[in-house]
Amino acid sequence: MGQVRALVEAAVAGSKQPVTIKLRSGWDELTKVFIEAGKIAEEAGAAAVTLHARTRSGQFAGKACWDDIKKLKEALRIPVIGNGDITNGPEAARMLKETGCDAVMIGRAALGNPWVFREINHFLETGREYPQPTYEEKAELILEHARLLARTDDEDRAILKMRGILTRYTRGWIGGGVLRRKMFALNDFGGLKDLLHEYLAGRNISDQRTSETE
Ligand SMILES: Cc1cc2nc3c(=O)[nH]c(=O)nc-3n(C[C@H](O)[C@H](O)[C@H](O)COP(=O)(O)O)c2cc1C
Repeated sequence: MGQVRALVEAAVAGSKQPVTIKLRSGWDELTKVFIEAGKIAEEAGAAAVTLHARTRSGQFAGKACWDDIKKLKEALRIPVIGNGDITNGPEAARMLKETGCDAVMIGRAALGNPWVFREINHFLETGREYPQPTYEEKAELILEHARLLARTDDEDRAILKMRGILTRYTRGWIGGGVLRRKMFALNDFGGLKDLLHEYLAGRNISDQRTSETE
């Protein structure tokens, strides 16, 4: 725990911005250290603590233990951000209510669905579900994502990375399997644009919301 203190103190001393930290609950179910670590981080000047309510040995298995988030919230004065298993607005609302945490953090649910943030915000503000993005919107974002990847990686690597990402973006699409096989055979991003346009035109679904067909 001395290292947690030293690390946070050094980060706070070296930063003009507020420093936040993120923890898991502990090493394993028998060694949960999140309260001790959270208190040390608070004393060392952290502005907020995020808790992914699983242990290191638990990796991503089972359900996150939201009760840990509640306990951390009760133990600290600085804001606590809850994390683990939220995929939509109702779940975000439930975590906020059940744990009393100040905010929620989303991980895996944003992969292939970056709209999840507007969906959750909309639900928290209105209590109503936000309409799913249309195929057109998804296709545009796929192309933007590919363009940004190609800026940071060379094109071969970017295309390999894009394969996993495409699977997530196009999950549940009508004829998605065929489309993905064609996408995976591409050697450059120019072909991706043509393929998506061809797919949307052929199915005449660009304005339809993706949830209607999933
Ligand atoms: C692809 C991927 C990359 C991640 N990278 C980080 C990271 O760099 N730092 C971190 O603290 N957590 C990282 N995480 C964990 C998430 O931030 C989050 O704590 C975890 O996925 C649980 O939240 P979720 O149930 O909403 O996915 C990563 C998770 C995934 C799936």
